[in-house]
Amino acid sequence: MQPRELIVTERFVVLQAQLGEWDNLNHLLVCVQTKQAVIIDPFDGHFWHDVCRQRGWTLNEVWLTHSHWDHVKGVKEAKEIGSDSICVRSHAFERQRDWDGEVDEEWTHEPNSHTELSLGNLRFEAHCTPGHTPGHTTFIGEGIVVSGDCLFLGRCGRTDLFGGDPVAQRRTLHYLRDIMADLPSSWLVLPGHQYQLADGQTPTSMSIGDVLQTNEALLAVDSDQAWAELPFLAFEDSMAEQARRKRARRA
Ligand SMILES: [Fe+2]
Repeated sequence: MQPRELIVTERFVVLQAQLGEWDNLNHLLVCVQTKQAVIIDPFDGHFWHDVCRQRGWTLNEVWLTHSHWDHVKGVKEAKEIGSDSICVRSHAFERQRDWDGEVDEEWTHEPNSHTELSLGNLRFEAHCTPGHTPGHTTFIGEGIVVSGDCLFLGRCGRTDLFGGDPVAQRRTLHYLRDIMADLPSSWLVLPGHQYQLADGQTPTSMSIGDVLQTNEALLAVDSDQAWAELPFLAFEDSMAEQARRKRARRA
């Protein structure tokens, strides 16, 4: 399988692939001038090393939106194949959900603030966007918003897993909405999963303009009632039950 080419310019390439059985979307960002690449939320380290090898790029960074297993599954093999020169970055608040994965650089900035990061000649911002998890991070810059499980195209991520927080999620969506409203509306939002929209379509990217106009969660954040009625913040399933038990043990 070859990844999708979402952006290909003389300075920037963005590739996307859906890997695994959970509809995970992985994104590879490449600085064309320096041939440096970062993989965000690798599900399969081998896959992305092969892609980089075939195209003459060097995979030297891994950025994590958050630490749920389906977003970090490929980190270890990416490191093993690529040697220790690969730098894994994530937010320190992910430790609050008892995650003990190996990270080389941890961000410590406050919720709903950002820090700068670069890839070769490209510049991005890592925004701390808690709610789905305590240290969820959204990457913004160079024409893209990589939103992980914070913001999907038609809705937002669930908040009932261990470390999730619906109040923080609502605050984060206000924060992101304000930021996106100031960006060019043609920039692409790239989520962590390919989920079906209300109209049955299953796009893997969407313009900021369309997301701001149609996303059910963003449209609900200003109203207490609309927010409370959103059907996707919590589910009755085994993962929710597991989170309930873990919270009870902690109390
Ligand atoms: Fe997640």
